[in-house]
Amino acid sequence: MLEQETIREREGRWKPRPTLSGSDYTSPEVWEEERERIWFGDWVCIGRAEEVANPGDYLVRDLVGESIFITRNAQGELHGFYNVCSHRGTKFLDDEPASGNVRKAFVCPYHSWTYDLDGRLIGTPNVREDEHFDRGQYPLHSFPVDTYAGFLFASLAREPRPLLESLNDGVESVTVFDRFGMEDLRIGARIVYEVEANWKIIVENYNECLHCPVVHPELVQVVPLFRFGEVWDGETRDGGNEMMDGAKSFTMTGRSELPPLPGLLDEDMTRYYGAYQFPNLLLNIHPDCVMYYIGYPKGPGHTTVVSEYLFRPETIADPAVFKPEPVVELWDLISKQDWDVCERAQIGVGSRAFTTGVYPRQDRYLFAFNESYRVKMGRPKLGAARE
Ligand code: FES
Ligand SMILES: [Fe+2]
Repeated sequence: MLEQETIREREGRWKPRPTLSGSDYTSPEVWEEERERIWFGDWVCIGRAEEVANPGDYLVRDLVGESIFITRNAQGELHGFYNVCSHRGTKFLDDEPASGNVRKAFVCPYHSWTYDLDGRLIGTPNVREDEHFDRGQYPLHSFPVDTYAGFLFASLAREPRPLLESLNDGVESVTVFDRFGMEDLRIGARIVYEVEANWKIIVENYNECLHCPVVHPELVQVVPLFRFGEVWDGETRDGGNEMMDGAKSFTMTGRSELPPLPGLLDEDMTRYYGAYQFPNLLLNIHPDCVMYYIGYPKGPGHTTVVSEYLFRPETIADPAVFKPEPVVELWDLISKQDWDVCERAQIGVGSRAFTTGVYPRQDRYLFAFNESYRVKMGRPKLGAARE
């Protein structure tokens, strides 16, 4: 895996490197392979633990075409199950509403077979236990669920590894931002976008800022370094970027009514941090709010992007200070600007003229992402860009 230092060392002698190929963004075959190797091969972010806060709460997700759900049992433990009845396979929970509470049991709408919050089959109307039938043999199909920083993760892998090992496997990780206390934050705003672009185009767009001065005139005012096409300040902790002079919030004016998050370092109060957690969690961290995108690919050319904004619960509860609009409005503007260019890129990479594009030095994090992607896909790395 590429280390941050290794990437930085390389900056001085960067040679332009190729992008992924057009078919990597468009072909059904690559999509099928990604489903198995990436989306069903390791831990994936699927939401926030607060969405299943109480026993009997459940949350349905479409994970690249597999309907799954998470629930919490009477002891407060989380479980993940396929949305598939053990009787005849019926999908028993709906996509809308995607969440709810069943109190004690899930009932399949076909023949009313009933499962408890641990996935055990506890009811089979008209089929008695003594009729050559053992309910204990037919629980729901389960997979491990875990949390980090309040985010819910699921692994549909055949041989799941510990979540932490997976989180720390890439160039960037949510784990370096523990001081932001994200497990104690709660969702105060949510916007869902349907983007006609491959998930990797969205990740690549997030990881570069050559487009920032062109596409995001407002963003480059708030984060001046972005004007120069750079994404990281190489000198600061965690690659944080100073916001414009005097700014304490990620808004057009640099100000907001929101109180800062507790426990931060002095330097955090004026900075913006970005972090990408492979494969689908893209974090934007601010002194008074944590915003993130979770990408849910729906096919090679479509990704549902859920953006949510986290705040302290007491901030959300206090109408005098809970005024998230300036942060949300700026991010909504930036998001739509991004999706527009991602959708244009998706169309272009599908052209017969496009084989691969090129990464100049400023796009080196995209190359690093592509190297990780190649490893996950069982392909050889292209290797270091040396003279
Ligand atoms: S398929 Fe679910 S109860 Fe028969
Ligand atoms: Fe952007």
